[in-house]
Amino acid sequence: MSTAPSAPGQPIASTRPAAVSATGVGKVFASRKGADVTALEAVDLTIAPGEFVSLIGPSGCGKSTLLRLIADLDSPTSGSIEVFGKTARQARIDQAYGIAFQQAGLLPWRTVRSNIELPLELHKVGKADRAARSSELLALVGLSDFADKYPDQLSGGMQQRVAIARSLAESPGLLLMDEPFGALDEMTRERMQTELVRICAETGAAVVFVTHSIPEAVFLSNRVVVMSPRPGRIRDVIAVDLGRAEGRGEGLREADSFFEAVVAVRESLHGEPAGAPAARGVDQR
Ligand SMILES: Nc1ncnc2c1ncn2[C@@H]1O[C@H](COP(=O)(O)OP(=O)(O)OP(=O)(O)O)[C@@H](O)[C@H]1O
Ligand SMILES: [Mg+2]
Repeated sequence: MSTAPSAPGQPIASTRPAAVSATGVGKVFASRKGADVTALEAVDLTIAPGEFVSLIGPSGCGKSTLLRLIADLDSPTSGSIEVFGKTARQARIDQAYGIAFQQAGLLPWRTVRSNIELPLELHKVGKADRAARSSELLALVGLSDFADKYPDQLSGGMQQRVAIARSLAESPGLLLMDEPFGALDEMTRERMQTELVRICAETGAAVVFVTHSIPEAVFLSNRVVVMSPRPGRIRDVIAVDLGRAEGRGEGLREADSFFEAVVAVRESLHGEPAGAPAARGVDQR
C-alpha cells in the first residue's frame, strides 16, 4: 500500500466520461462595498466514475463553493465544469447527482419512507415503484424497521442515513456531500463512514466529499484534494490506497498505511512537517 502524492487534478484512467471535470475554474464574489472575494482560482480537477474524492482545507478556502458550482447551484466566473460529459446545468436537469449536506434537512411532517420517496414523487415516479425503491434504500442504510417513524423520533446519525438514502433515490452516478457527518458524535461518525464506504461500493457512485477531518478524508477517499487558503486553489492531490471496500473495516484505522496517509495530508495542509500548529478550521481527529 502506498501513499504517493500525485499531480493536482490527475485523473484515474477511464474510457467513460469523467464524473466531474473542472477546468480552470474560478469564482469571484462581487461585493457592493469593499473588495471582491476571490473564492476559487484556477481549479483543475477530474474525478473518475466511482471514485471517492475528498476536499479538505482551511475554513473559507472555497470547498462549499466548488461543490455548489458542480451542483449548478451557482456558476463559475471563469473556466468550465462538466458532469458525466454534460454541462453542470444539464446534469442538474437530468438529476445526474444526489446531494447531502451537514444538516439532514428532512421534512418533519413526513415519515422516513416518504422523505426518501420525495425526489421520486417530484419526478412523478408511480406509487408502487416508489415503494419498491424506498424499501431497497431503507435496507441499504439499515433503517427498514424505521420506515414509518418521523424524523424527530430518530437519532442524528439515523436522520443523516435517511438523508443519504434520499440522495441515492434516483441512483445518481455522483454524490455531492458537504460535511454530512459534521454534526455527529465521533463513534456515530466512524460508523457512518464505514457504511458510506460500503454504500459507495454497492452503488458504484462517485463522491465529492467535503470535510474538515483528516482521518475521515483518508478513511473514505481514493484521493484527497488539499486546498489552500483564499483564494482557494488546489495545493495537492494525495492518492490514498487503503484497498477495496470489503477490507476497509474498523481495524484499518489502526493500520500503518492509514497513519501514513494521515501524515501526508497533514503535511500538505500545513505546508510543513506534522506537529506544526494546526491550520485554522481543520480537525486533527
Ligand atoms: N454567496 C456568497 N457571497 C459572497 N461571498 C461568498 C459567498 N459564498 C461564499 N463566499 C465567500 O467565498 C469564500 C469561500 O467560501 P466557502 O463557503 O466556499 O468556504 P469553505 O471552504 O466551504 O469554508 P468552511 O470550511 O468554513 O465551510 C469565503 O471567503 C466566503 O466568504
Ligand atoms: Mg463549507
